Amino acid sequence: MSRERDGRETGPAPPLVVALDFAEAGPALDLARRLLGRVAYVKVGLELFTSEGPDIVRSLRDMGHEVFLDLKLHDIPNTVARAVAAARRAGAGLLTVHAIGGRAMLEAALEGAEGGADDAAAGPLRLLGVTVLTSMDQAALAATGVAGHLDDQVVRLAALAAEAGLAGVVASPHEAAQLRSSHPPPFLIVTPGVRPAWQAQSHDQARVTTPRRAILAGADLVVVGRPVTEAPDPVEAAERIGRELFSGLAERGGPGGKGTPGPRRSGSGEEGHVVYGAHEGEVVP
Ligand code: C5P
Repeated sequence: MSRERDGRETGPAPPLVVALDFAEAGPALDLARRLLGRVAYVKVGLELFTSEGPDIVRSLRDMGHEVFLDLKLHDIPNTVARAVAAARRAGAGLLTVHAIGGRAMLEAALEGAEGGADDAAAGPLRLLGVTVLTSMDQAALAATGVAGHLDDQVVRLAALAAEAGLAGVVASPHEAAQLRSSHPPPFLIVTPGVRPAWQAQSHDQARVTTPRRAILAGADLVVVGRPVTEAPDPVEAAERIGRELFSGLAERGGPGGKGTPGPRRSGSGEEGHVVYGAHEGEVVP
């Protein structure tokens, strides 16, 4: 791997998604510019999308980023289908929908993803099912009326997403190993709730692990927000996490980058196949 004049490493981007959880476009675009080439995706969440609208997705695309639009859609099937089509027109490459919305809603979402392509600039849009938010623990889940174990609920919702034909799921790193055993690649496992070992804070995430452990558990993409956005030097933090992800990939058996399902806009080609290592479920802190 060589270095460009601005210090940016060249070569494949690590399987890192940085969540641009900002209130407005200015700081989000500033950080995104500095992260070009260092991340697989930038993630636009509810706050930024609600304040800036689809233009923020277009701006990030124009800058050269692949955009993960994390809207966690959950509504009646027709409404979700239309929102998904709009997300595709805006240029999103990944979009989240709540798997708990049910089979009909998930299938409608997939139709929406096919149907939003009247704009030639719109690439393929892959849908991810949200299982159980990583901020939820067993007690919080029980309070919503779900009597079973949290792990079972995750497994059930992931199966629903897979049966409906979604590209993958968002799940905690602790569920990743189990999900991977029943959902081999190219089914995507995307894990938030990740905190680097050198950063003690877990914020409001109830279930966290390190980037390396998430990869060893079988994650394809790792989502990190505040450990990057609130770091004194966000670029340095992203690069450090990226290196940790690459070393996890090497340890897992996938040569750096080969097992990494980077952005795929052509719609062709398989995700790299990797050997999934043991998972001890280490919790940080
Ligand atoms: O700052 P932090 O690293 O906790 O950010 C995690 C990001 O991942 C946030 O943007 C959050 O909305 C998102 N996310 C999550 N849990 C999910 C799905 C998405 O934390 N199940």
